Amino acid sequence: MSTPPSKPRVLVTRAIFPDVIERLTEHFEVESNPGDMQWDSEQFLHRLQDKVGVFTTGVERITAPVLAQCPALKICANMTVGYNNFDLDAMTTAGVLGTNAPDVLTETTADFGFALLMATARRVTESEHFLRAGLWTRWSYDMFSGAEIHGTTLGIIGMGRIGQAIARRGALGFGMKVVYHNRSRLDGATEALSQARYLSKEELLKTADHVVLVVPYSASSHHTIGVQELTWMKPTATLINVARGGIVDDAALAIALREKRIAAAGLDVYEGEPKVHPDLLTVPNVVLTPHIASATAGTRRAMADLAVDNLVGYLVRGKAVTPLNMVANG
Ligand code: DGY
Repeated sequence: MSTPPSKPRVLVTRAIFPDVIERLTEHFEVESNPGDMQWDSEQFLHRLQDKVGVFTTGVERITAPVLAQCPALKICANMTVGYNNFDLDAMTTAGVLGTNAPDVLTETTADFGFALLMATARRVTESEHFLRAGLWTRWSYDMFSGAEIHGTTLGIIGMGRIGQAIARRGALGFGMKVVYHNRSRLDGATEALSQARYLSKEELLKTADHVVLVVPYSASSHHTIGVQELTWMKPTATLINVARGGIVDDAALAIALREKRIAAAGLDVYEGEPKVHPDLLTVPNVVLTPHIASATAGTRRAMADLAVDNLVGYLVRGKAVTPLNMVANG
């Protein structure tokens, strides 16, 4: 009696919807992580070494040294739109495909960007802490007065899909004047659809009442907002980061917030997360959330499903849905 041919081996790095694992199991022998253990880089590498594919969550580093020790690997499928955990050049050289999960989280992330903007400008969490602490004993005319949102100027840095979705919310929902800065200027039709006007980064920071960062992380976007940029912002301005940790110099931001050089900030992402710069934890004028901009059940499911579509598409049918690089499919 001959043994049936074994299925290709795939790794899933974190706990995920059980039916996502079932879908993968139809095609692959799956090593999953239902207990959601935090693997260190050695444990991750050990598990990856005999796999042809890996389902990643946007933080697992895929670098040249990792690839050198994983000769069977063909695809790394992020369930996130961001892919700064991938060294794409090294992956291309090693013949390993990278995929991400664009589009499926655009509107949800834009909703959250706006939620964080509103919570920050209108001091929602700060005033809730005050109330919960039993400090609300009487009304006063200037209690927690915040910044106006409607009719103000919204500055967006990073005008990709999510940036454009935030621009539409600002322009159509809140009557905001929208200005944007991007590595390359959008074409006229897209600018018109977003009702957004292009400015240099400096002009934008000097003009905007609210600045939202949606720029992808790379070496060139590191500290897009640092000491100098914070000095360009209005003292009444709010700064929102739903992009990636490292886009903002968190230490410099904490100082600017403490010294009221800008009014407030709303952060969903941090340098070195899940650690948060200790100085940010002690300033009152910042709203802090734990990287949840895309966290709705429906969107997280769509993100995971797209990662599975990429793994199955590439490993079974030879074609991924949302590839990031070009490799020969051998
Ligand atoms: C992404 O998809 O890159 C988000 O940051 C994950 O929530």
